[in-house]
Amino acid sequence: MEKNILITGGAGFIGSHTAVALHQAGLKPIIVDNLSNTSMEMVHGIENIIQEKLVFHPYDCCNKEQVKSIFEQYPIHGVIHFAAFKSVAESVLEPQKYMKNNMGSLEVMLECMKDAGVNNLVFSSSATVYGEPDDNPVTEDTPFKKAASPYGETKQLGEDCIQSYCTENIHFNAALLRYFNPIGAHPSGNIGELPLGIPNNLLPLVNQAAKGERVLKIFGKDYNTPDGTCLRDYIHVMDLAEAHVAALRWVFGQNGTCQAFNLGQGKVDSVLSIIQNFESINGVAIPYEWSERRPGDVEQIWANASKAKNILGWETKRSTSDALRDSWNFAKK
Ligand code: WQD
Repeated sequence: MEKNILITGGAGFIGSHTAVALHQAGLKPIIVDNLSNTSMEMVHGIENIIQEKLVFHPYDCCNKEQVKSIFEQYPIHGVIHFAAFKSVAESVLEPQKYMKNNMGSLEVMLECMKDAGVNNLVFSSSATVYGEPDDNPVTEDTPFKKAASPYGETKQLGEDCIQSYCTENIHFNAALLRYFNPIGAHPSGNIGELPLGIPNNLLPLVNQAAKGERVLKIFGKDYNTPDGTCLRDYIHVMDLAEAHVAALRWVFGQNGTCQAFNLGQGKVDSVLSIIQNFESINGVAIPYEWSERRPGDVEQIWANASKAKNILGWETKRSTSDALRDSWNFAKK
């Protein structure tokens, strides 16, 4: 029987690509998204790719009655929980909003899973849990530093909460996926990163600069890195999407395990090299200017992702250049 997978936040950037990857793997996505930071365009984009009507409910994951009704309507085999606010900058300005939404939706989800007897969870965590690491690359055993933002704190607390839940519920399985910097888009150009309002992350801003809508600010030119700009481990969103399928298959085979996995390429790109690479691959100019360091930015972080390779049998297949090409292909449309 086809397995139903509840994807909360399934109309968002990573959720939508994961819905496509699940479908390709023969699993059935059931999408819940309150569209607070995305739109129905993404749902239609997924449908265009998979050539099938989706099960979609515009529910809020903090609303227990709504989430419960999903478990009553469909037999759910596993949950991928993306639904959360994700702007680092906004979280600094409105920490309570982040605590309430990100922790509240996780609590509702765990309660509903318990009531429905669903024991398989894949959780959307983040490399931000590591704070500014002493050494790179980071492994899953690298100790957490104080989170640089309330957003990061909600991911640290979310992981703790799931770990405790696993200890109390002996058959519960969870994969905590620590994303490094997701970029790119589906190569069809039907779905991609489409935040509402002013974007925060680098690639949506690079795309807007390429379209002549803004001058990109590069935050900091005097970091202790080869070209003075920050170093990050950028990962193609389709590689990330496929990691969720691998993680789900892994949790299905467990009986009472909770583990974290780093998801990155295991290599770095500087901000400046992203801009230069984007310009040469896509044949467009990115107007930019130098700006102050952004508060809360770590200088450099990249992943050791060998645990995901060894245990989940997953590794990245796409390069940063592939991601920059696919990102622009989506943004142009
Ligand atoms: C990347 C680099 C900026 C904008 C955050 C979260 C992380 C993950 C991804 C998920 C940095 C520089 C950016 C700009 C710039 N989250 N930059 N000018 O901060 O590494 O990671 O998003 O939800 O968990 O912490 O990502 O894309 O904002 O920045 O120079 O206008 O680009 O300084 O070095 P970040 P980012």
